[in-house]
Amino acid sequence: MARPGLRKQRKARSSGGTVADFRKSFEGGSMQYLGGKARTGKQLVEYLSSVRKPGQAWIEPFCGGLWVTHLVDGMRIASDANEALITLYKAMQVGWLPPESVSEEEYATYKARRDAKDPMTAFVGFGCSFSGKWFGGYARSGERNYATNARNSLMRKMQTCAGIRFLHLDYKTALAEAPKGSLVYMDPPYAHTTGYGETGAFDSGIFWSVVRAVSAEHDVYVSEYTAPPDFECVLTVHTKTDLRMKDGSKEPRQEKLFRLQS
Ligand SMILES: C[S@@+](CC[C@H](N)C(=O)[O-])C[C@H]1O[C@@H](n2cnc3c(N)ncnc32)[C@H](O)[C@@H]1O
Repeated sequence: MARPGLRKQRKARSSGGTVADFRKSFEGGSMQYLGGKARTGKQLVEYLSSVRKPGQAWIEPFCGGLWVTHLVDGMRIASDANEALITLYKAMQVGWLPPESVSEEEYATYKARRDAKDPMTAFVGFGCSFSGKWFGGYARSGERNYATNARNSLMRKMQTCAGIRFLHLDYKTALAEAPKGSLVYMDPPYAHTTGYGETGAFDSGIFWSVVRAVSAEHDVYVSEYTAPPDFECVLTVHTKTDLRMKDGSKEPRQEKLFRLQS
């Protein structure tokens, strides 16, 4: 089924229909994003805001599902190597609204097409996929409507992301183009974990060398489970995964924030 284009949706919003839908469906729900900081974003931002200098630019080269980005204010540049994701955010900044449902058939169509210039691609590829993994399978669970949840979650986040500059960039280019003296927050694909498919294999060794180099110019903070010995952990956030332990409780996990030792 064809989706209404950007112009049509904007028209519908200005004529009232879609705005009413927007308000009606603006309740609850969350968009799953593999590795997203849905549970720990708040604590991370509390810490990072406490060390951010007045007026300092916020640079986020692995913005992913915006779970951290949408909690930050001031001057922000958010980028990601997944072009379709950036297309989605830019489209929403100018009024595009995701649909309230996506059928399994539509999912298969977008999966086969993978058009990075179509905002539906990332919406379906992450928001309607099992565990928020890029086209990792059509998500279903009882009565739960993944598309509506993802739509609500994105619309909530975009309320605070109107002024963000979104760019489709590899992290090395994002860092090279960052204004000098920025606060750089990086949440890369973690070493030895499931990759992001679309963005190819991630070399954590090269990543840490790049972090060392750019730390001379910026205040750089990295989310990971572990880091090389010349990095110090400045924050530990105790959280839980969705994996269940033998006793039925959720598996505990420690998210850490690192910076190069001075
Ligand atoms: C852990 S996720 C970020 C999650 C995000 N912080 C959140 O809370 O929603 C890592 C992101 O890195 C992106 N990525 C992978 N390789 C990249 C690269 N070489 N340059 C920039 N981004 C990359 C992936 O597309 C993914 O969105």
